[in-house]
Amino acid sequence: MTDEKNYYLGTHDAEIRRLGLQHRVWRPHVLDAWRRAGITTGSTVIDAGAGPGYASLDLAEIVEEPGKVVALERSDRFLQSLTTAAKARGLGNIEPRSCDLVTDEITQTNVDAIWIRWVFAFLSDPIAVLEKLSNAIRPGGVFVIHEYMDWGTLNWTPGHPALTDFVNVTIREWRGSGGEPDIAVQLLPMLSKVGLRLKETRPIIHAVRPSNYVWRWPATFIPNHARDLAKSGVVTDAWATDVIKALEAAEANGDTVMTTPLVMEIIAEKI
Ligand SMILES: C[S@@+](CC[C@H](N)C(=O)[O-])C[C@H]1O[C@@H](n2cnc3c(N)ncnc32)[C@H](O)[C@@H]1O
Repeated sequence: MTDEKNYYLGTHDAEIRRLGLQHRVWRPHVLDAWRRAGITTGSTVIDAGAGPGYASLDLAEIVEEPGKVVALERSDRFLQSLTTAAKARGLGNIEPRSCDLVTDEITQTNVDAIWIRWVFAFLSDPIAVLEKLSNAIRPGGVFVIHEYMDWGTLNWTPGHPALTDFVNVTIREWRGSGGEPDIAVQLLPMLSKVGLRLKETRPIIHAVRPSNYVWRWPATFIPNHARDLAKSGVVTDAWATDVIKALEAAEANGDTVMTTPLVMEIIAEKI
């Protein structure tokens, strides 16, 4: 059963737009990772926890028919958004499938590749899902993962106490919701235990000023999330306003440098 409320960050239109911006910021890294991993024309790829499917759409264009993308996602709203976008782009090789990665069986077998990004961090049983997904890959196939290694590297120079507090509260609440932001730390030692051989790791972190497009990524997340935290009663409206004002102040100083949350790229091969 789909529960739209269960995803910590929500499935509302603002989150669909934010995931789009996030994908555009990350697209160069993603395309590069897929190419190094060997995803190409004719591949069958699972996009696990596809969200509204921004990556699925790019993958579908790369693999072309008869290659295909199976987009596994729990949210009906996100699946609907992907179905509409695939139609608009004339892509017939995407299969959006309703699937709860934790409770449902993964029925696909012998796929060439699995792509997963910012999903393990929200799962109640990430290692069981890692194993289930690994079982769906053919020997020699690849598992490409982008997950956070250290969310706490999100930082500003010069600093703003309200923004530092935002980072700490977000990490605390994320863990309180049953997820683990720095999930890459747990995934890496488990790869060999679920039949995967580590091929490559690559830490990805940016240090950018407000004029850089990468700035927009956390800058879009922070006001939305501060307001959501206030709505859920975790913090006060005044706290959220202070966070938003601190971000505006950081942005108004063109020399501010923001370091982004550290993402670990993991490319592993099925044994
Ligand atoms: C931060 S979003 C990332 C979406 C997409 N991977 C991307 O990179 O744009 C996390 C996604 O994981 C999905 N998700 C969370 N728990 C899930 C579960 N148990 N089964 C399937 N999808 C899940 C959410 O619905 C959401 O689409």
